[in-house]
Order: sequence, then C-alpha cells, then structure tokens
Amino acid sequence: MSEHETINQPERVISGVEIVLDEVTKRYSGSKLPAVDKVSMTIPAGEIVVFVGPSGCGKTTTMRMINRLIEPTSGRITIGGEDALSIKPDKLRRGIGYSIQQSGLFPHMTIAQNVGMVPGLVGWNKKKINDRVDEMLDLVGLDPDQYRGRYPRQLSGGQQQRVGVARALAADPPVLLMDEPFGAVDPITRGLLQDELLRLQTELGKTIVFVTHDFSEAVKLGDRIAVLGDQSKILQYDTPEAVLANPADDTVAGFIGSGASLQQLTLLRVRDVDLATCPTAHESDTPDKLRATLTPRPRSWGLVLDDRDRPLRWVNSRHLAGVNSLRNVGDPIGEVVSTQSTLQDALEALLAARSASTVVTGSRGQYVGLISIDTLVGTIRSLREAHEDDHLDSDDTTETAAPEVLDSSTGATS
Ligand SMILES: Nc1ncnc2c1ncn2[C@@H]1O[C@H](COP(=O)(O)OP(=O)(O)OP(=O)(O)O)[C@@H](O)[C@H]1O
Ligand SMILES: [Mg+2]
Repeated sequence: MSEHETINQPERVISGVEIVLDEVTKRYSGSKLPAVDKVSMTIPAGEIVVFVGPSGCGKTTTMRMINRLIEPTSGRITIGGEDALSIKPDKLRRGIGYSIQQSGLFPHMTIAQNVGMVPGLVGWNKKKINDRVDEMLDLVGLDPDQYRGRYPRQLSGGQQQRVGVARALAADPPVLLMDEPFGAVDPITRGLLQDELLRLQTELGKTIVFVTHDFSEAVKLGDRIAVLGDQSKILQYDTPEAVLANPADDTVAGFIGSGASLQQLTLLRVRDVDLATCPTAHESDTPDKLRATLTPRPRSWGLVLDDRDRPLRWVNSRHLAGVNSLRNVGDPIGEVVSTQSTLQDALEALLAARSASTVVTGSRGQYVGLISIDTLVGTIRSLREAHEDDHLDSDDTTETAAPEVLDSSTGATS
C-alpha cells in the first residue's frame, strides 16, 4: 500500500482542551427511553477519542451535545473547564470544528466560501481568509486553483468530505467533532484521509472526538476508544492496545475478535500474511524514477533503500521537488518489523508508531514489503471466525456475543 504516515514524535504539541461529560442525558420528546443515559467521560486535551458502537446507540446524539446542536436534558459538559451550557451556542460552535459523513457543505456556496465561513464569522480579514482557504485545501489534498471556485455538487463524495474536514479545521478550533467523516469514501482514500488526519494531529494536537463503525479505523486513529452500547452506555473506554488485549465483555470481544484469537497473533509470523508494497529506489538512483510513480494528490509514499536494499527513509513527492539526489531526503522510517516477527510484535509497532503501515525487512535487513493495521485487524477477524466455526456446537455462548454490534461490512480489511 502506498499510504504511509509516521507519527513518531518525542514531544507532543497540545492545542486542544479537555472535555468532560458528567452524567449527560438526552431524552427526545416522545421517546420512552433516553437516547443517551447518564454518560460520564473525560476526553483528555490533545487526544483523539473514537466512539464506536452499533447504529442507533447514541453516538451522534452524544457528540452533538458537546457543541449543543442538541441540548442535553440533564447533566453537565465542560470544555476546557468552561461550562458549555453557559456559553452561547453560536459562540461555542465557532470554537468547535464539526465534520460529518454527508460533508454538510452548503450547496449554494463555493468550496472557498464553505471553507472560509467560520473564519469569516469570527472576523478574519479577506486576505487572511483566502490564504487560509488555500492552505486548508492543500492540506486535504485538493488543488486550491482547481477547486476553490467550484460548488459542492461538482465534487465527488470523497472530495466533499475532504472539504468538510478542511472547513472543520479552518478557524483552527481547539476541539474537533468528526461524525463518520470518511464514511463515504473507498478504503484506499479513507486510509489516506486517516493518514492526513494523524499527520495534522501531530502538528496541531487538537482534542478530537471521532465516530466510526470501523474498528480498524478506531484502532488506527484513537488514542482511546470508547465502545458504546445502547443509550451510549460506555462498555469500555481505554487505549486500542487495552481494548484489543482485554475486551471488557462479550459484546466488545464479539466485535474485535476474542481474546483467544488475539493470543494467536503471537503464534503467527509476519511472513504468514500477505504484505503490501510501495515504490522504491536506491539512494544512488536519480530521483526521477520515484518522482514518476509518486502522486501528490492523493499523496503516495515510497522508500529509499541503501545499496544493499535496506530501507533508509520514506519519501513523497513533496520531498522530491527540486532535489537532484535521493541522499538525505525524506522522513525516518521508524520502527521496522522483520518477516520473523510475530503479528503481535507488528501490532505493537504499528500502534506505537500510529502509522498506517510499517516496513517489513528480511533476514539481511532488506526491504521485503509493508504490513498494515488493516491486515492485522482482518487477520484477527478471520481467526475469530475460524474459532467460532470450531465451537459452533460445543460452545454457543460466543454466538450470543457476536451480534451485529458493529457493521463490520464497512471495515476495510483488505
Ligand atoms: N431528533 C430525534 N428525535 C427522536 N429520536 C431521535 C432523534 N435523533 C435520534 N433519535 C434516536 O436516538 C437514538 C440515538 O440516535 P443517534 O443518531 O445518536 O445514534 P447513532 O449511534 O449516531 O447511530 P448511527 O450509527 O446510525 O449514526 C436512536 O434510537 C434514534 O432513533
Ligand atoms: Mg450517527
């Protein structure tokens, strides 16, 4: 796979603020049961917290109470220590970026007007807004010259979603709420958008609440994952590592794969799974060969190898602009795993690096391919399915534990 982003950074930037929900409840009029029932959680400043849970469990309702697009029936919400319910809703919303699956763009406004809307509302001057619009479009991989003046209907669904993300980020809010923002795009583009978001996050350190149905996405993006059940009951709220290793109950386990299948990751080796590849070149080659294969939008990545094929650095088209040698260009490759490593090691390396994929090397340290988080989550799923088949007659307790907890069909497990 060509997408790659390493997020290894010693000191973290934090521009976001802490969000605290305290016994927050939403009861829609005419409904017997509350849609969200006494949810309490702390979302730490500068972290990405991912809500996953079945359709209708209250993810959107919970999220929209944070920016008061939905008013809580009871409970308290503080944002950066301030009582959200005492801030005027429109002022509150200007400090919170919001992007949704349908992109939520205004159809009668151009892309530039959509992206520049909140900066305009908070009083930026025209020049600053225009610069910011271009910067944001560039950030999400859309050529400003080409897209600035278009209308949303003249963009594909995935491009509209990118604009939605650009718009959410435009006024540089400390808090971002993202409700299945990449739901409408194909798995490859989704991977690239996820990479972009992670890259941005290392630069920006915002507090991000992210909703998804896709567990791979949650593992990849989340500093913490909140697995929600009916009425937004928090079934588990922990790091991806902890949720994967110790699912809180059968419902959570049914979704991600049982502990038993996770254990099996220590028995499988990287060489046992299909590896992805990316373009490569030797340090002594001219940059032309790589330049020809790496696309700027969506940004793809290649590897520079030494004369013994050992990986040295990641490069993209931006690195290659204007250089006439591959020496000293690119980003560090970060932690690599070998074909001998267990899948458990690979999982740990991926989680530590917060990257889409990590480089796999052979016995001489030479490049042999890439392993991705999607591959690992896919492997866990198939191990679990195999495990369930084995126990179909003897053990039906796991059957009740594997409901349509989450729509795994949306999970990219290629
Ligand atoms: N405006 C509304 N009026 C009444 N009930 C509502 C309203 N909006 C949502 N609900 C109900 O509240 C519950 C939670 O809905 P919500 O949209 O928060 O779920 P969700 O977890 O975001 O689901 P999905 O994954 O399908 O987006 C559902 O039972 C839904 O039918
Ligand atoms: Mg929803």
